[in-house]
Amino acid sequence: MFPGILNFNLLLKQVQADAFADPAKPFTYAELGCGHGLTVTMIAAANPQAVVYANDFNPSHIVGARKLADAAKLKNIHFFDDSFEEFLNRDDLPAFDVVSLHGVYSWISEENRKLIRDFLRRRLKPGGVCYASYNVLPGWAPAAPMRKLMIEIAEGEKAKPIPARIDSAIDLLNSLQKTNAGYFKANPLLGTRLEAMQKHSRNYLAHEYLNRDWTLFYHCDAAREMAEAKLTFAAPANASDHVDVVNLTVDQQQILADIADPALRETVRDFCVNQQFRRDIFLKGLLNCSSQEQVNALLNQRFALTLPRAGLSLKGNFPVGEVNLQPTVYEPLADALAERPQSIREMISKEPLAGTGYQKILQALTIMISMGQVSPALADKQAREAKPSCDRLNAVLLERARTSADMPYLISPVTGSGVSADRFSQLMLLAVRENKPDLADFVWQILSAQNQRILKDGVTLETPEQNLVELRNRAADFTGKQMPFLKQLGIA
Ligand SMILES: C[S@@+](CC[C@H](N)C(=O)[O-])C[C@H]1O[C@@H](n2cnc3c(N)ncnc32)[C@H](O)[C@@H]1O
Repeated sequence: MFPGILNFNLLLKQVQADAFADPAKPFTYAELGCGHGLTVTMIAAANPQAVVYANDFNPSHIVGARKLADAAKLKNIHFFDDSFEEFLNRDDLPAFDVVSLHGVYSWISEENRKLIRDFLRRRLKPGGVCYASYNVLPGWAPAAPMRKLMIEIAEGEKAKPIPARIDSAIDLLNSLQKTNAGYFKANPLLGTRLEAMQKHSRNYLAHEYLNRDWTLFYHCDAAREMAEAKLTFAAPANASDHVDVVNLTVDQQQILADIADPALRETVRDFCVNQQFRRDIFLKGLLNCSSQEQVNALLNQRFALTLPRAGLSLKGNFPVGEVNLQPTVYEPLADALAERPQSIREMISKEPLAGTGYQKILQALTIMISMGQVSPALADKQAREAKPSCDRLNAVLLERARTSADMPYLISPVTGSGVSADRFSQLMLLAVRENKPDLADFVWQILSAQNQRILKDGVTLETPEQNLVELRNRAADFTGKQMPFLKQLGIA
């Protein structure tokens, strides 16, 4: 959902969206169904030149989101506790350059999907960008009956709270699996899925499995629906989806190359990778830029490491299996980015990457992005302008970590996007900001005052000594590995 990431994915498909062509230009951004609003608040902080709007009909989500944005003194974000229908009918909204919806389109009624399409039709500018994620077939096909059973069980236990209903449903599914029920025998991968499912929070499971509305799309059908709002599929929002060699066999690439219709091609591609969740970028009025404009924009695009240099791996897991990345390209690339965020143009202007070639570097960066090791970064001037608002939001998130683990992210003014940081990392960074000499002790004071203990490998560490030993290990890790890259990302 972050503008820089949308822009990069669009550029890979030779599309230069108006909203992102000039990074200094103000743009308008809306998120529909923003939930607690953290992502859209980070977008506002990282893009002070933008004006951001968001709605969610759950008023407590909106109250929390407003509190967060107000605490960070963000003046460029506006939250509304509107339904999609109310939001659509407001007369105080601008036309939007970007509209995003994440975790929404598959989980609402047809009537609400139509309201969203009306919103896009009326409120998204020509040339505007829409990000939408949704559940897809064929990936979901084997597990859909599992959901049906969960719904039926949960419906039958209405008196119980939701987590208890989910537990009953999972218990029954586990028992069925143990009896080697035909459904599990016919779908051997379901066991792994059932196991993985149990690691998710009950909140997530309630959203995914017990929501009344739940539509699985084939990409071609989703694209047809979006066409009603005059939108055309432009690019996947996942960097890894752009690199065929790690997703498709040579024969699959050939089958796809022979399909002229883009919607059918994407749908067949979903069969190749057994896709179950898509993040798509649509455009209102798809216009390709020239390949020269594309190359220029990608040469000037900056990139930054999002993991410590020492933590980067040269092995990646992709749909085609485990892939060993070429050290001769990836090592110098990682070294260059560990020095400082930079553009491909800068990297190929000097040794050791001078002879490597733009295409090879771009592909390597795309793969590193898909592995969560690299991110597109803001232009230097934008990063400087975003720093004060990102600092303020980060300060609020760090304060929040004193009592809560519910927002384990920070915003980087360098990449303009969110970075995962669990509560311990957040508290240790807070300790650094407050010049505390002993990070572990600082965190332990906070935890012990709230009677909290660390859970390690499923076991609660009971004594203060055990907790402090664990915290000292984590503090060493934080100082040695995380701090350098938090500094590099403009967060520390
Ligand atoms: C799964 S959450 C996704 C939240 C957020 N986009 C995210 O990715 O974290 C879906 C959100 O859509 C909101 N929602 C569902 N139906 C809605 C409607 N008709 N009008 C406004 N918001 C709605 C829900 O309240 C919920 O917060």
